[in-house]
Amino acid sequence: MSGKQDESFFRGIYFMMSALVILAIAIVFIASEIYRDHAVSQQTEAEIAERIRPIGEVNVSGEKISAAATSSAAPTTTDAGERTVPVADAAPGEAEYRKICFTCHEQGIAGAPKTGDPAAWAERAPKGVEALLHSVIEGVSGPNGVMLPRGGMASLTDAELEAAVRYMLSRLPDQGGI
Ligand code: HEC
Repeated sequence: MSGKQDESFFRGIYFMMSALVILAIAIVFIASEIYRDHAVSQQTEAEIAERIRPIGEVNVSGEKISAAATSSAAPTTTDAGERTVPVADAAPGEAEYRKICFTCHEQGIAGAPKTGDPAAWAERAPKGVEALLHSVIEGVSGPNGVMLPRGGMASLTDAELEAAVRYMLSRLPDQGGI
């Protein structure tokens, strides 16, 4: 090997080493930038929960929701400013129905007869409001599933339950407004 060849060989090595050092510095720099972005975009769980909060929430506690606690449009408010009906232009009994009953009956889950489904109610509706209300108050343990007394919400009054039952019956196509 001549001196010239050695020189170009070492120059090549130096070149590669400097390239690697520059690359390493670049990687550290990029990594720190990414980390900084990440740190800035980190939020508290509360902020994330607030952002992904569903538009409507099921109120199973039976407590009234104050108007200030929600920004939903056109809530029905009482004189005291409490929002009692989460649905605008609700039909009679719909508010009560939405407190708990709809969780099972709207889609007919857990063996519940689906609201508005004539087949599911063919043998139930003819019993009449009184008998159905009795079932709701006492709870039902039937062949299809179990409904706890008062639909599982002990705070509902008999009047509220009756309103919910009547609302459910009113959704049957051929039984409008029993
Ligand atoms: C956890 C689910 C669940 C909830 C909540 C629920 N139900 Fe039910 N409901 C059922 C099931 C299941 C049945 C049918 C049981 C069977 O006959 O096998 C039923 C049956 C009924 C019946 C028919 C009773 C009969 O004698 O045939 C009525 C009326 C009724 N529910 C009304 C209500 C009302 C009103 C509410 C709200 C206060 C409510 N349900 C809440 C599950 C539920």
